[in-house]
Amino acid sequence: MSINQNKGKYAFFLGNNPNLSKAEIKSVLELFSVEYEEIYSTSSVFLIDVLNEIKVNTLQDRLGGTIKIAKIIHSVSKPSIESEIFKLAEEKCGDEKFRFGFSLYDISRNNDFKKIGLNIKRQLKDNGAKVRFITSKDTKLSSVIVKKEKLIDSGLDVVIINDNDNYYLGYSITVQDFSGYSDRDYGRPSRDDKSGMLPPKLAKMMINLSGTSLDKIILDPFCGSGTIIQEALLLGFNNIKGSDISDRAVRDTENNISWLETKLDLDISNVEIKKQDVKSLTKSFNDNSIDSIITEPYLGPPHRTTKNVTSELSNLYLDSFKEFHKVLKENGIVIFILPIIDNKESNILEDIENLGFKRISSSDTERGSLIYSRETQRVKREIFKFEKI
Ligand SMILES: C[S@@+](CC[C@H](N)C(=O)[O-])C[C@H]1O[C@@H](n2cnc3c(N)ncnc32)[C@H](O)[C@@H]1O
Repeated sequence: MSINQNKGKYAFFLGNNPNLSKAEIKSVLELFSVEYEEIYSTSSVFLIDVLNEIKVNTLQDRLGGTIKIAKIIHSVSKPSIESEIFKLAEEKCGDEKFRFGFSLYDISRNNDFKKIGLNIKRQLKDNGAKVRFITSKDTKLSSVIVKKEKLIDSGLDVVIINDNDNYYLGYSITVQDFSGYSDRDYGRPSRDDKSGMLPPKLAKMMINLSGTSLDKIILDPFCGSGTIIQEALLLGFNNIKGSDISDRAVRDTENNISWLETKLDLDISNVEIKKQDVKSLTKSFNDNSIDSIITEPYLGPPHRTTKNVTSELSNLYLDSFKEFHKVLKENGIVIFILPIIDNKESNILEDIENLGFKRISSSDTERGSLIYSRETQRVKREIFKFEKI
């Protein structure tokens, strides 16, 4: 079922790297020609007023960095929050057993809301309804709970966002397909933990950041086990190319793509995988033939001193960009990850620009980059967007 919604307010709940998630949302809204105004933006929520029609389910499937999307009904003064939630719950409560829970954003204490939830449950019961109030240790219900308890289809994940004197009140209408991502990450036949694997959600975010439409030709010249290619196929790209210097990577990518083909009945006839050193990319791909290059390059061996690694990697990346310039069409796009090793950023941005690229800022930081990291990681990923000039 596709939910077509007209104008209205929607809240996007962001994953672990909120700036990256927001940049992805903006890029996809632009690609889909959605007009909107930004209303409220924090490290967990991006709330917009949509001025034309959107398909929320399609958006949710498209976005790698958005956990849930909620329809926001209105802004409610703090004293009237309980009665407004009650009205909403009463409206949604049918003859079947009704389950509801709260997801609180930018609200640190949920004790008051527990009381409100129990009060509402009692009132609904007094009205003759069969009701369960779903709680969790966290202030918000996870996508797993929302799905397991069927809160989207036959219950209610009440969304309450703190905004100074008021709350935004609404309810979740979609959640991320967490089991699909996990399956594509851990369930695929070929994994190469040693070379480092890109999480499928990040692969999707990178593709989305490129702003490339589905009819264009995309290339991942460090395809590894094929994560970017997998996600591009799922998004509906049908002209996808990949290459890698290693026999094993080419085999892994082919295996993973065939697995996806069988599992999801996808057409992979327009996917082309080649064994190719990136330094001579033009041996496998024609000049001016690629619209977008989206790639996570080799980020170095996991345990070695920073100094040697950095200069080796810099050379590899600059050689790559030389080749990218040849195979890309005019104004072609590159989404590229540079490693931040032990908090040291790469210093080759100017060199890349001197090879005939313009850096396109994806954030309001000086470098215009977006960071993807998990706390424990020694190597962080810094994501850049370039355009061939
Ligand atoms: C970090 S992995 C890419 C991960 C990939 N995005 C994935 O999710 O599986 C880096 C890949 O770069 C490849 N590689 C290293 N040097 C290369 C070169 N000179 N040309 C092409 N590929 C190279 C390695 O074989 C490895 O598969």
